[in-house]
Amino acid sequence: MRNARWRAASRAAVALAGAGALAAGMTLVLTAPAAAGTTLGASAAEKGRYFGTAVAGFKLSDSTYTTILNREFNMVTAENEMKIDATEPQQNRFSYGSAEQIVNHARSRGMQVRGHTLAWHAQQPSWMQGMSGSALRQAILNHVTQVATHFRGQLYSWDVVNEAFADGNSGGRRDSNLQRTGNDWIEAAFRAARAADPGAKLCYNDYNIDNWTWAKTQGVYNMVRDFKSRGVPIDCVGFQSHFNSDSPYVSNYRTTLSSFAALGVDVQITELDIEGAPANTYRSVVEDCLAVARCNGITVWGIRDSDSWRSYQSPLLFNNSGQKKPAYDAVLTALNNGTTPTTPPPTTPPPTTPPPTTPPPTTPPPTTPPPTTPPPGEGVCSASLTVNQWNGGFVANVRVTAGSSALNGWTVTIDLPSGATVTNAWSATNSGSTGTTTWRNVSYNGQVGAGQSTEFGFQGTGTAGTPTPTCAPA
Ligand code: XIL
Repeated sequence: MRNARWRAASRAAVALAGAGALAAGMTLVLTAPAAAGTTLGASAAEKGRYFGTAVAGFKLSDSTYTTILNREFNMVTAENEMKIDATEPQQNRFSYGSAEQIVNHARSRGMQVRGHTLAWHAQQPSWMQGMSGSALRQAILNHVTQVATHFRGQLYSWDVVNEAFADGNSGGRRDSNLQRTGNDWIEAAFRAARAADPGAKLCYNDYNIDNWTWAKTQGVYNMVRDFKSRGVPIDCVGFQSHFNSDSPYVSNYRTTLSSFAALGVDVQITELDIEGAPANTYRSVVEDCLAVARCNGITVWGIRDSDSWRSYQSPLLFNNSGQKKPAYDAVLTALNNGTTPTTPPPTTPPPTTPPPTTPPPTTPPPTTPPPTTPPPGEGVCSASLTVNQWNGGFVANVRVTAGSSALNGWTVTIDLPSGATVTNAWSATNSGSTGTTTWRNVSYNGQVGAGQSTEFGFQGTGTAGTPTPTCAPA
């Protein structure tokens, strides 16, 4: 309905513009009827930002809900419908119905969509929960590829990996079945997502990374810095920003956003809710986003308090009956008061807290079990290959095993059948993506101790068959 009105008004405006061209000197101001400044989405758009909400597909039949959704928001995140358990309930059986319902609702009304989420330790289907090792590695990359390909061209951004860091003081990764496949699982997921949907911004998304002084924030910061320095395709960091007494909003939030942005990524506030919905805190969050040029927009995690996953905290902008709360007014006012994108974007201040002095983590080579085949002879290496094939594409994992001497660099050659094309790879660089392909170690996995092994992988379109790889020391 909003669109119909908008189109009607646009037509009127065009007609008026024609008349105005005849009446010299007449100043014409074009405004959309959902006038800028009166809704969250329109006000954010005036500042070159979006304002979004999580949407639960089953609520789209609730007219109070959809009235607010359609009126106020121009970005949508599926609250559960794009998670792994929803999209791949059985291995290699994909299910997109409820996700598509949300995507279609949004896009047909001119709203954009954030994809959430391709790889996560939680909300995994039961078949995945019990998996490990290279079978899980292949399964998650297949999942990333299939789902991102399905929605290719339709999404503004993807939360490629969600919540991979540990809470507390370690600043390291969270233990999970995915983490146990090797520390490089995150970058492999990003590469697969980029190959599948080059148009979507690819985000790492997490909670408790809002406070610049927290170890978890610094851990994610170091990962993003490392990814940028090595060309891993990451475009954005999503700050869930579920604020409550255990994880309160802090004034260094703006420093956090600007520090990440200074690494060369966009930042997005992806799941905002604030216990008790204090208007001042909501205002501060909006002001912080507007102060950082690369803060693309804000998504609240639900519409009414009754829609919230933490409804007992009444953390959202609309009450249970859909009335605007004081926090709503504070957000709208802050959006309208912000500088417009026609003025130069605010210079992102350097972090007031010095950036961490810890060096970017060097990705340790994946831990691999000892080879089951006896090691080959002196100065020789061997390679074995496993393929996960589906209709139209595949993921290949290659294990490189050193002989009785240590390797100081290696090369693997794989002859692919015609029709098979490599689209992306991890933990090795290739020359050739069809026919005879040659694979060289990357910096961290060239040295392989005698009898030890390391792995790399690649993904492609077509049918890989079962080629026999050959290995040579470099
Ligand atoms: C939550 C949903 O809101 C709930 O409906 C579901 O039961 C559990 O997940 N971080 C995330 C979101 O990335 O996907 C979570 O959403 C909230 C925390």
